[in-house]
Amino acid sequence: MLKKTVRDLEVGGKRVLVRVDFNVPLDAGRVVDDTRIRAALPTISYLRERGAKVILASHLGRPKDAPDDALRMDPVAAHLAQLIGSPVRKIDELTGPEAENAAAAMEPGDVLLLENSRFDPREKKNSPELSAELARLADLYVNDAFGAAHRAHATTAGVAALLPAAAGLLMENELDALGALLESPARPFVVVLGGAKVSDKIKVIERFLDLADELLIGGAMCFTFFLARGAQVGASKVEDEEGVRLAADLLDKAAASRCELVLPEDVVAADAFSADAAVQVVPGDRVPEGWLGLDIGPKAAEEYAARIRGAGEVFWNGPMGVFEMAPFAKGTEAVARAMAAAPGITVVGGGDSVAAVRALGLIGAMDHVSTGGGASLEFIEGASLPGVDALQDR
Ligand code: 3PG
Repeated sequence: MLKKTVRDLEVGGKRVLVRVDFNVPLDAGRVVDDTRIRAALPTISYLRERGAKVILASHLGRPKDAPDDALRMDPVAAHLAQLIGSPVRKIDELTGPEAENAAAAMEPGDVLLLENSRFDPREKKNSPELSAELARLADLYVNDAFGAAHRAHATTAGVAALLPAAAGLLMENELDALGALLESPARPFVVVLGGAKVSDKIKVIERFLDLADELLIGGAMCFTFFLARGAQVGASKVEDEEGVRLAADLLDKAAASRCELVLPEDVVAADAFSADAAVQVVPGDRVPEGWLGLDIGPKAAEEYAARIRGAGEVFWNGPMGVFEMAPFAKGTEAVARAMAAAPGITVVGGGDSVAAVRALGLIGAMDHVSTGGGASLEFIEGASLPGVDALQDR
């Protein structure tokens, strides 16, 4: 780790502004998945145990640059208070007199949660003025929001230039785990990629064609690859001409690389995009007219599982099918179960694949489950993350 971490700071008695990623799903005013909140607990505990005053800031959802009652941080504060067994004071401002007074009144070990940072239109603009207001609240800054590290916002980047700034323990853990995977993966290195669009993941695919030994493709994106090979995709979801051209380029690159790109041998096809559609298993490259592929098939699932079991290291991002609908969840489930049982190092990179692993109760069986969806993919692409760049070097 080239950046300072919270361990490099003298935090006792200091007010520490900690950017966390508490962008968690809510339902009827309650937190329904607290993975990201739990992931920030090591840093929060580390600071409290050393007598720091912990001021937390996060975004929640995508409000339209204005307060939105459905996206206030109050449910998160209540949930955090339960997890740490101590009160968490929540205020309705991000910066300004109320925030400054609350910060000034803190005792060592206290926890304060500021309002959703995206209620302030200056947040996403990385406004110097907002950054200065944030800096007035604290003596030190810690960024533990790996999931938002690809955003150059005032709370993730701007304020870091104005205070001694270091990475939190979650941020450090994520950068170490994903960094090790890119630098020296255990071999064979198997990557499983799903999701809808090839065009969203071109750079990630290119990076893995250089780095991985096997690249197993699932999700709707496999049909764009099949189409690029001239196969019959029926009514499956495919990209426009440009997307198909990109897929053809990637297939050429794969053929010239040492990485084997694998498309599913069979798929589950349905006569409608619906949980009670008629279904049949067909060869991946021969989806009948009018039918659409919604999951990888049983042979492909078995093959992918075997390759995962044989891997030294596996990275997985993106579901294999429409896993929210039971008839099309088996491919994703097979990948998750194979990873959970695999002897190699297993890394799940963010988003829907994490939701699938969690739904199956398999989180604890993975070596690393990233809290960042977009952030982990950008890191893998090789993009620099503004939230990390802004921190002080060692
Ligand atoms: C995420 O959920 O991936 C992060 O919290 C970032 O959220 P955003 O995509 O709205 O910036």
